[in-house]
Amino acid sequence: MNGAFSPLGGFVGEADYRSILRDMRLDDGTLWPMPIPLDVSEAAAEGLEPGAHLALRDEEGVMLAALEVGDRWRPDPEEEAEAVYGTADPAHAGVSRLLGGSGPVYLGGRVHGIGAPAHYDFPALRRGPRELRSAFKLHGWRRVVAFQTRNPLHRAHVELTLRAAKEARANLLIHPVVGPTQAGDVDHFTRVRCYQAVLPFYPEPTVMLALLPLAMRMAGPREALWHALVRKNYGCTHFIVGRDHAGPRVPRGREPFYGPYEAQELVRRHEDELEVALVPFRNLVYVEDRDAYVPQDDVAEGERVLQISGTDLRTRLAEGREIPTWYTYAKVARELRRTSARCGGALDRA
Ligand code: ADX
Repeated sequence: MNGAFSPLGGFVGEADYRSILRDMRLDDGTLWPMPIPLDVSEAAAEGLEPGAHLALRDEEGVMLAALEVGDRWRPDPEEEAEAVYGTADPAHAGVSRLLGGSGPVYLGGRVHGIGAPAHYDFPALRRGPRELRSAFKLHGWRRVVAFQTRNPLHRAHVELTLRAAKEARANLLIHPVVGPTQAGDVDHFTRVRCYQAVLPFYPEPTVMLALLPLAMRMAGPREALWHALVRKNYGCTHFIVGRDHAGPRVPRGREPFYGPYEAQELVRRHEDELEVALVPFRNLVYVEDRDAYVPQDDVAEGERVLQISGTDLRTRLAEGREIPTWYTYAKVARELRRTSARCGGALDRA
């Protein structure tokens, strides 16, 4: 609760909420694409008039902050889904959580922080915006390109981030999300061990790893814009957006919810206002004959492209099959195999 919920230092009120749905902006015009009100049950909302204070506690009951209630209203979740996700289809992971899992009453208002949530896992990697900004200053990093991810880093990601740092002439911040992501994703404990395993493949003084406690919505384009704003808050000057950024899983036989470069296009349209430079990437694929990752558009006719999808990877792990070295590093494969074996083949149950 360090005032980082939104530029308001709290949960959005109704006027900002409506303006965000309509224009991706707060009521005062500030670019902010994601509505973040506090959703509560009818019972919790009972008697909470504007001016009331609500204690915000962690699962152990420790009070982290107080919400000074500004607004209380009943949203139309389908309207919100259409505006934020571009669809009200519950097959979309974010929409499903919104329609099925959020409270019927929204509260907005200022948040008065008492203490940051306690984390006992990887405390050295949990660095807030102020801390990261001063670390960049200390290292003399003037240009920093951030890489958002909710997956382990494989060879394609390392290639992509190295290229991005070179193109932007910037240092690299690997900034994976460790809040809730999409069901079925690799748990963050395993992922952090994988990130640590790939760090030696980067030129040592050029890269930093830090964890971002953000709850992903899988909202594609709007989410990419939000991710870029959050990284600006953390002191980054550049932000990588590749293909299908924050895209939700698509049910078999269905069209994707977003185009592969829609997120890039939205960020590009707001680049000047964001004050964060976009580092865009076309789909990088592995070309066997060249033993290299290249943008899909540069693959010549007749060249053999090898690919392993997330589902393929999970099946290979569950069946104890080999994970090729062109795809990932031996140490990353070992970490994934260990987790997969521990939870009977289902990485997401770890
Ligand atoms: S995301 O939900 O956090 O976007 P993921 O961790 O898979 O998912 O991707 C992180 C970033 O890397 C996104 O910007 C995504 O577009 C980019 N990316 C991942 N794999 C590739 C690839 N093969 N080619 C181009 N961009 C990619």
